[in-house]
Amino acid sequence: MDKIIIHGGKRLLGTIPVSGAKNSALTLIPCALLTDEPLTLRNLPRLADIDGFQHLMNQFGVSTTIAGSRPQDFGRVMTLEATRITNTTAPYELVRKMRASILVLGPMLARMGEATVSLPGGCAIGNRPIDLHLKALEAMGAEIELAAGYVRARAPDGGLPGGEYDFPVVSVGATENALMAAATAKGETRLLNAAREPEIVDLCKLLVAMGAEIEGIGGSDLTIHGVTRLHGATYEVMPDRIEAGSYACAAAITGGEVTLKGARPEEMSATNHALRNAGVRVEPVKGGLHVAADGALRPLTLSTAPYPGFATDMQAQLMALLCRAEGSSVLTETIFENRYMHVPELNRMGAHVETKGRTAVVHGVPGLHGAEVMATDLRASMSLVIAGLAAAGETQVHRLYHLDRGYERLEEKLALLGAEVERVGD
Ligand code: EPZ
Repeated sequence: MDKIIIHGGKRLLGTIPVSGAKNSALTLIPCALLTDEPLTLRNLPRLADIDGFQHLMNQFGVSTTIAGSRPQDFGRVMTLEATRITNTTAPYELVRKMRASILVLGPMLARMGEATVSLPGGCAIGNRPIDLHLKALEAMGAEIELAAGYVRARAPDGGLPGGEYDFPVVSVGATENALMAAATAKGETRLLNAAREPEIVDLCKLLVAMGAEIEGIGGSDLTIHGVTRLHGATYEVMPDRIEAGSYACAAAITGGEVTLKGARPEEMSATNHALRNAGVRVEPVKGGLHVAADGALRPLTLSTAPYPGFATDMQAQLMALLCRAEGSSVLTETIFENRYMHVPELNRMGAHVETKGRTAVVHGVPGLHGAEVMATDLRASMSLVIAGLAAAGETQVHRLYHLDRGYERLEEKLALLGAEVERVGD
């Protein structure tokens, strides 16, 4: 297992490219199951989870080819071809490593009339149920059975009729599974209280490019008119708003000045608003976002919420920044029940954060000091990197595989900005 060694205290200065969005790519890839024609996805980030999903698609008999990227390039082009699907089961040993595998359930069911997917189980940030995925598919006419740790889904002969489902809780993944299943259903499907994340919009845009008919894109009330078949497409994955927000926090905590090339400010409003309230200069520039800070940071009070609220995936990174604010901030994590795994490690770096249930009080401290810390989940790991960039001395972040799931070539991007950072084998 690799670790990253950071010598903190350097202001981040310069420009870096924002990679393709992991959480869009992971729902665009399974769309290949919906057609027997080639689907080409551009700007795919070079991440462990993308490799994992490619491997899962190969298990179904989907051919995949990677093209158009030299080692020094960011991003890749992948063409997927589900001409014939030879297997409709996503096995435990693959699903347990990447819970986003559950996103094959809807498209596989729509294409083949059946799908068997291992229950994903929980992860570090919570138990991550999939009941809403299953209820939405049942509302569309699927028969769902749970047996031996697997979900077995079947569509009536002739395909899913479609239906209406009003989500009791906003769920990104359940909305995505339902959208992919509805695209080729026999009739119309209405999804109420659907997730509105930009990644959902990206999925809708791809499905429309493949021939789907969807109304209400970008809103929480979606109507999908099922079509008999979808065709192939070539599509560019949206830029990663969470990666961009993470580097914005890194620039801010070091009192630096960074341009994030390819960022879409209009998809980062809640993050940009929070950073401005904390005293960070955040300005849209042509083709990206410019972030600058002079060191003085103000405390914040905010809660995470479904889009367009403040993203839960940005909570840990903002917390690291607020450890250096002049005063106490109050953060409330409303989406996941255990998303403060970064707190004990931040406190070992001299932070002063107290948690009680879903609320964290971040008392600003004059400085952080380097330490050996352990990554536990993707965003917690980035929180520790951000703290390490501002900490005096050396920080070692162990279990880097967590970071490799969501941040393409992190140490190269940080080095481009002047950070003193090194990746070594553990
Ligand atoms: C997606 O996860 C993202 N992952 C997560 O990003 C992100 O944190 C989350 O959405 C919220 O924005 C991908 O897109 C691959 P949810 P997902 O269904 O779809 C509960 C990262 O760091 N729920 O919107 O699993 C659930 O427990 C990752 O990049 C049910 O109760 O999230 C949670 O409390 C982490 N039943 C809430 O809803 C269900 O059937 C939101 O979960 C599904 C979800």
